[in-house]
Amino acid sequence: ESGAQIPALVIGTGYGGSVAALRLAQAGVEVHMVEMGMAWDAADSDGKIFANTTRPDRRSYWLRTRTKQPLSNFLGFPLDKAVPRYTGILDAEDFSGITVYQGRGVGGGSLVNGGMAVTPRRERLGAVLPTVSAEEMYGVYYPRANAGLGVNEIDPSWWDSTDCYQYARVGRRHAERSGFPFVLVPNVYDFAYMRQEEAGTVPKSALAAEILYGNNHGKKSLQKTYLARARATGKVSISPLHKVTSVAPAAGGGYTVVIEQLDTGGVRTATKTVTAGKVFFAAGSVGTSKLLTKLRATGALPGLNAETGKGWGDNGNVMCGRANHLWDPTGSLQSSMPTAGIDNWDAGGAFAEVAPLPTGIETFASFYLSITNNPHRAEFTWNASTGAVELSWQRSWKQPSIEAAKTIFDKINKKEGTIYRTDLFGLSKIWGDHLTYHPLGGAVLGKATDNYGRLHGHPGLYAIDGSLIPGNTTVNPFVTITALAERNIEQIIATDL
Ligand code: FDA
Repeated sequence: ESGAQIPALVIGTGYGGSVAALRLAQAGVEVHMVEMGMAWDAADSDGKIFANTTRPDRRSYWLRTRTKQPLSNFLGFPLDKAVPRYTGILDAEDFSGITVYQGRGVGGGSLVNGGMAVTPRRERLGAVLPTVSAEEMYGVYYPRANAGLGVNEIDPSWWDSTDCYQYARVGRRHAERSGFPFVLVPNVYDFAYMRQEEAGTVPKSALAAEILYGNNHGKKSLQKTYLARARATGKVSISPLHKVTSVAPAAGGGYTVVIEQLDTGGVRTATKTVTAGKVFFAAGSVGTSKLLTKLRATGALPGLNAETGKGWGDNGNVMCGRANHLWDPTGSLQSSMPTAGIDNWDAGGAFAEVAPLPTGIETFASFYLSITNNPHRAEFTWNASTGAVELSWQRSWKQPSIEAAKTIFDKINKKEGTIYRTDLFGLSKIWGDHLTYHPLGGAVLGKATDNYGRLHGHPGLYAIDGSLIPGNTTVNPFVTITALAERNIEQIIATDL
C-alpha cells in the first residue's frame, strides 16, 4: 500500500526475481515483489487457467487487439486473428528492428517458454561471462539452479519410441546423416507426467499443444518451484497487475518507488508510492533496461553509469523450417516441449533447437529455433519527445545469424534432397529473422554493475536478471540467468545486509 516501508523490493517475478526473493526471505528479510502481469492462479470460464497454443484468446497476448504469432502463416494462410485487449500472458513487444517476446505474469518467462533447461558447455562460459569463476558456477551455482528449477531428463529409450517425439527423431536422423553432433537436453516439464499423458491417465498439456500461452499441467514453472518456496517462508508477498515506473533516492535513505496499479484492460487505476531499503531490478532484460535507461536520462538515478542500456543482444535467435519428403513424416502428435538440439557452435556458430510444430496434423515440416553467435549489440536510449525508450537493433543485423544457421541447414538440405519451407513467416520468407525469445543484456555484469550486479552510483540498487548477460549465452538462457542470480544474491546477502 502507498506509504509502506519495504526492506527489499523486487521488480518482476521471473527467474532473477524469484531467486532473489527466495534467498533474501531465507536470510530473514521481508520481500515485496511487484509484477506488471497477472497472477495466473485462477481458471477462466473454460475451466482452464491458460489458453491453448492453437486457439489463442484474450488470455494469450499482452494488450493487443490482434494476435502476433511467432509463426504468422501456414501453407499460405495468415494465422493471426482479433482478440479482446487484455493483460494476457505473452508480450510481443515491438521495437523498430525486432519484436521481443516475453512472458507477463507471476513467473515471468517461465509461464510461456519451452522449458529447455540447458547448461552451456563449460569451455564456452568464459566468452559469455569472463569475470565469473567457471569453477564456482559449475561446482555450485549451476547445480543449485538446476535443482531449484526442478530440471529433469527424458528417458532416452522412451524418447526413442514415443509417437510424440517422432519429429525430434527425424531431426536427429537428418543431423547425424550430415555429421552434426546431436544432443538431448533437459527440461523443466515433468517427463513422468508426460508419459501419463501419453497413457491417457491424466489431463493433457504438452501432448495437447500447450506451450506459448501457458501450460495447465506438467510444466514446473517458477510458480511451482522458486516462488512456491519463497511464499512458504511467509516473508514474501506479491502484487500482480502492478507496474514500477520510477525509482529514485529517498530523502531519509533508501529509495522511493512509484508503482501503477493496472486493470485487465491495461488502464491505470491507482498510483502508489513506497519506500524500499533495497531494490532489485528483475524486470527482464528489456524491462530492467527500459527502466534504468529512463531513470538515468531523466535524472531520477543520476549515478548510473554510461554503460546503462548497452550490450543488448538477441541470443542470435533465428527460426526456419525445412520441408521433408512425403516418406519422412514428423508426426501429427508432437509434444510441445522441445528436448533436443544440433550443436554446431564450434564449427559454425549455431546451436539449433529441434522445435515442435504442434498443429495436430501431419505437416511434413521440421522446425528449428537456432541460437547463433551473432556479434551485433544494440543500445537502449531515451526519447524525451515521445517519452519512450528505443532500441537500436536493426533487422539486417540478423544476417550473421542466418549465415550461421545455414551452416547446418544448407548441408542437411543438400544431403536429404530437401528445401526450406517458405510459408511460415509470410510470403516466400525462409527466415524468421524479425524476433527474439531470448533478450539479454542492457545492464551488463561488470559494466553497468560491479561483478555481482550492484548498480554503480546508487548503493542498494541491483540488477539480477537477464539484463546482466552480455547478449548471448550460446544456448537457451534461463538456467544461466538463474545460476548467475544464485551466485550474486549469495554475495549480496553475505556483504550488503
Ligand atoms: P523474465 O522476463 O522471466 O521476468 C521479468 C518479469 O518482470 C516479467 O514477469 C515482467 O512482466 C515483469 N516486469 C517487467 N517490467 C516490469 C515493471 N516495470 N514492473 C513490474 N514488473 C515488470 N529460455 C530457455 O532457457 N529455454 C527455453 O526453452 C526458452 N523458451 C522460450 C520461449 C518463449 C516463447 C519465450 C518468450 C522465451 C523463452 N525462453 C527460453 C527465454 C526465457 O524465458 C527468458 O530468458 C527468461 O524468462 C528471462 O528471465 P528474467 O528473470 O531475465 O526475466
